[in-house]
Amino acid sequence: MAFKLTPVTNLPFFSKLNLTKRPQTIPLFPPLPLYSPYFQYSLTRKLPPSSSSSPRSNAVSEQVVESLISDSNQDSQNSPSTPSSSKLVLVIGGTGGVGQLVVASLLSRNIKSRLLLRNPEKASALFGEQDEEKLQVHKGDTRNPEDLDPSIFEGVTHVICCTGTTAFPSKRWDGDNTPEKVDWEGVRNLVSALPPSLKRIVLVSSVGVTKFNELPWSVMNLFGVLKYKKMGEDFVRNSGLPFTIIRPGRLTDGPYTSYDLNTLLQATAGERRAVLIGQGDNLVGEVSRLVVAEACIQALDIDFTRGQIYEINSVQGEGPGSDKEKWEELFKSAEKKSA
Ligand SMILES: NC(=O)c1ccc[n+]([C@@H]2O[C@H](COP(=O)([O-])OP(=O)(O)OC[C@H]3O[C@@H](n4cnc5c(N)ncnc54)[C@H](OP(=O)(O)O)[C@@H]3O)[C@@H](O)[C@H]2O)c1
Repeated sequence: MAFKLTPVTNLPFFSKLNLTKRPQTIPLFPPLPLYSPYFQYSLTRKLPPSSSSSPRSNAVSEQVVESLISDSNQDSQNSPSTPSSSKLVLVIGGTGGVGQLVVASLLSRNIKSRLLLRNPEKASALFGEQDEEKLQVHKGDTRNPEDLDPSIFEGVTHVICCTGTTAFPSKRWDGDNTPEKVDWEGVRNLVSALPPSLKRIVLVSSVGVTKFNELPWSVMNLFGVLKYKKMGEDFVRNSGLPFTIIRPGRLTDGPYTSYDLNTLLQATAGERRAVLIGQGDNLVGEVSRLVVAEACIQALDIDFTRGQIYEINSVQGEGPGSDKEKWEELFKSAEKKSA
C-alpha cells in the first residue's frame, strides 16, 4: 500500500521523533527489498560500557539496533551487538538524507561506523543510544581543517562522504555553509586528512558535474554547486587514495516528515528499486536515496569499482536489493556500455 508523504529539503527524516524515550521495540526499517534484513530499534537491552573511547568521541551508548533477519550479504554472522566485520566506516554527512540510510544500513549489517557531524545531538535523535563498539560520533565541520583531528581517522578502513548543502541560497547556507565551502573546501580538507592506508573512499557527488556550463545544468549551477562538486571529485581522483565516485540523479525518497513512524517506514520502501548505472555523465533522471546508500555500501567491497565514477538512477521495478552479485553485474555493465 502506498503512503503519501511530503519530502522536504531541509529536515532530516525522524527529526520530529524522539525515539530514544520510547520504552518499546520499534521496527526502524520494514523488510525493505533494499534492506533485507531490516532491523529493530531495541531500547531495552543494556550493553557493557566500552573502554575504547577517544577524548573527542561522543559515542552514544547502552542501547543497540539489532538485525532481525540474517542477510546472505551480511558481513557478520555473529551476535548483532558485537561487530565482527573488520571494517570501520567513517561516514561524513551521516545525518543527511542519503547519509542516514547509509548509517542505518551499516548498523543493520553489523558493520562498525564512525560519524563526523557538526551536531552530534542529531545522531542520538536519529539512531538512538548505540554501543560505542558499533557507532561512534565525533564532532566536526569539514570546512575546518583543525576539526579533522587524526584521532578521528584512527582505525578507519573505509569512508563514505555524503555531505552537501542546497544548490540555491537557503537557511542551510547559514554561517557560510555554501557549495563552495562544503562540496569543494570540505571535501578537500577531508581527503587531505585521510590516512594513506585507507581501503576505499566513496564520494557522493552529482550527475551533470562535467557539464555545468551547459543547459540545463548551468541553471542548477547558478551558485556553483556542480562546479564545486567537480572540483571535489577531482581532488579525490588526484589524491592517490582508492576511490569510487557515485553521481546520483535527482534524489527521491526522503528526507521525510511524518507524524507516524510506521507510515514513514513503509514509505521508505519506495517504488524506485530498479537500478540504472552509467558512466560518462550521460544519465539523466531520478534516484531513490535508498538506492544511492546501497550503492555506496556495495562499492566498498567490489574491487573493480576502485578508481571508477558511476552515475546512478532508479526506476520503478524490482531492484538488486543488497545482493552483491547483482550489484557487481550492474557496475560491470555500466563499464561495458561506456567502453
Ligand atoms: N538533492 C538532490 O536531488 C541531489 C542530486 C544529486 C546529488 N545530490 C548530492 O547527494 C548528496 C546527498 O544528498 P542528500 O540530500 O541526501 O544530503 P543532505 O540531506 O543535504 O545532507 C547533507 C549532509 O551533509 C552534512 N553537512 C553539511 N555541511 C557540512 C559541513 N560543513 N561539515 C560536515 N557535515 C556537513 C549535513 O549535516 P548538517 O546537519 O550539519 O547540515 C548533512 O548530514 C549531497 O552531496 C548532495 O549534494 C543531491
